[in-house]
Amino acid sequence: MHPQDLASAPLKTLPDLWRATQPITMLTAYDASFARLAALAGIDVLLVGDSLGMVVQGQRDTLSVTIDDMVYHTKLVRRGAPQTLIVADMPFLTDNTQDSTRQHAGRLMQEAGADMVKIEGGATKAPLIAALTDVGIPVCAHIGLLPQRVRQLGGYKVQGRASEDAARILHDAQVLADAGAQLMVVECVPSALGTRIAQSVAVPVIGIGAGAGVDGQVLVMHDLLGMNPHPARFVRDFLRGRGSILQAMQAYADAVRSRSFPADHEGFV
Ligand code: KIV
Repeated sequence: MHPQDLASAPLKTLPDLWRATQPITMLTAYDASFARLAALAGIDVLLVGDSLGMVVQGQRDTLSVTIDDMVYHTKLVRRGAPQTLIVADMPFLTDNTQDSTRQHAGRLMQEAGADMVKIEGGATKAPLIAALTDVGIPVCAHIGLLPQRVRQLGGYKVQGRASEDAARILHDAQVLADAGAQLMVVECVPSALGTRIAQSVAVPVIGIGAGAGVDGQVLVMHDLLGMNPHPARFVRDFLRGRGSILQAMQAYADAVRSRSFPADHEGFV
């Protein structure tokens, strides 16, 4: 996209995107400058992830991120990418009751300019997703590895390897889609399970460490730029051998669209 076109490009809805763009490219962003570059690179969806706790704030996990942090960073991303579809994370403990969930999601939409909010959790989150859907707030579900539960899980571990866990995650996907989730992120599951989830729900499934058989991919921006000293198996450094951040983002978008990312060895069995 040409820089002048950033503000005038038509605002895409998720159904538009889904019809026009498969696989979908998604990338995290936390400020205006990187959001602008991602929009220029043709990234379809920007995720203001609570991963900002780690990659921007230097925390050891995402648990300390507040709704005020999310509103602040979402505003910055919206300024840099006025016409790009933006999903903002509901941080830890902001999606417990229906009232507080509506209030926090409302801030992300009204104050910060998000188009959709993301909620981490399994089937128990269905009533909250239905409540948001009911008042017109689009929701992206996030299943598989749930970083907000890292203290319960005892680390960032692949989920769904045992058959009963795989069945539970498939059930989560179905229940959350039925509750109204319009998009679904699936994190760190065996590639075969990622493919089964994508085949079993009627909404786009975006993978991170879920193999190439899903409907799109998401990466944390700092991982894509090779800034993670301990990258996970599903991370590829797209800046390596390229001359600019814009080129790295374009290479990521091309690799997702051609399904050359992730390669088999970048997924889990
Ligand atoms: O917070 C985040 O960046 C995320 C991605 C890992 C999907 O939720």
